[in-house]
Amino acid sequence: MAARMQRRWLIADRPLGRALRDTDFRLADAPVHEPGAGQVRVRTLFLSLDPSQKGFMENVASYAQATATGDVMPGTGVGRVVASGIESLPSGTLVRGELGWQEEPVIDASRLTLLPEGVPPTAALGAVGMTGRTAYFGLLHVGRVQPGDTVVVTGAAGAVGSIVGQLARIAGARVVGIAGGPDKCHVLVRELGFDAAIDYRSEKVRTRMRALCPSGIDVLFDNVGGSLLDDGLARLAPGARVVICGAIARYNADPRDAAQLPPGPQNYFNVVFTRSTISGFLVQHFESQYVEADRRLAAWHADGRLKSLVDVIDGFEQAPRALMRLFERANVGKQLLRIEEVTA
Ligand SMILES: NC(=O)c1ccc[n+]([C@@H]2O[C@H](COP(=O)([O-])OP(=O)(O)OC[C@H]3O[C@@H](n4cnc5c(N)ncnc54)[C@H](OP(=O)(O)O)[C@@H]3O)[C@@H](O)[C@H]2O)c1
Repeated sequence: MAARMQRRWLIADRPLGRALRDTDFRLADAPVHEPGAGQVRVRTLFLSLDPSQKGFMENVASYAQATATGDVMPGTGVGRVVASGIESLPSGTLVRGELGWQEEPVIDASRLTLLPEGVPPTAALGAVGMTGRTAYFGLLHVGRVQPGDTVVVTGAAGAVGSIVGQLARIAGARVVGIAGGPDKCHVLVRELGFDAAIDYRSEKVRTRMRALCPSGIDVLFDNVGGSLLDDGLARLAPGARVVICGAIARYNADPRDAAQLPPGPQNYFNVVFTRSTISGFLVQHFESQYVEADRRLAAWHADGRLKSLVDVIDGFEQAPRALMRLFERANVGKQLLRIEEVTA
């Protein structure tokens, strides 16, 4: 009997030093396998889209496993177990983990986790997933946010940024988000409770920062880099904490070619006068504290203080398009791909 087939997206080319193209991806059929002992076969329901996936394709993300052209696209997702070789994960269980861009992968059960209690798949990949953890550790542990602080977050209407702003409010801080376009700024203030938002496309960021942060910025949470980071550095309060989470303004540049990179910050010397610190971090370094972070994020999500802002694209064949949306600045909140409706 002919094997049943599934679809998978493979890496066809490395997008180093340029924007993603359709030809960087190849859709291919592969046989569906039966799980061995300790494994499960999962039907993928949702995939998370993350800027770092472009870095994984380029092989520049030194902290990630190396990729080769022809490999299945790496990616985190939520799926339903449809065949099981382990008692603890019977068929029907919803699981979260590194599924890759494939419709029905077989995965070692040890690499999967259950969704936090009561958390829907969309939030399990966003506000109460890696995205939420990134915001949580970056703001609370690295940024050491305090009640009364003024927090400025760049990429504020993106996945991480939208959570950072809400966590800052929960911590009793004032928060100003920087995002591209009036619609995104509207969402930040009206839907997510940010105190103010700056539209970097149409407003003078430094002038607005002066007005909105009269005593300076206590925590600058940067997802973007380039000129927005520089604007923030010019406005630091004494003892400020600058948290470098990401630098999406440079992700289409070849890091080996200085001419392609955004210019380095002009205002870094202000760190000296303000006795500020600049710290980078990787969420993975906090792995031992994930359980505690998930518990707190899930509680805030359940009581309505942490909203899960998601941007959902439908259809497995749309996966490359969904990833490209991040770099086209199209997403509002966490970009997800829905492959199948979740039924109870
Ligand atoms: N350190 C860690 O452990 C860690 C973990 C997860 C993510 N990250 C990083 O955190 C950052 C945010 O990640 P995310 O998942 O929340 O993504 P995201 O913010 O949802 O990313 C997409 C958004 O970035 C902005 N953007 C895209 N291209 C840009 C450009 N050339 N210049 C300026 N802005 C641009 C756009 O927003 P606007 O329209 O508002 O410009 C776009 O909607 C990324 O840099 C990511 O790599 C770090």
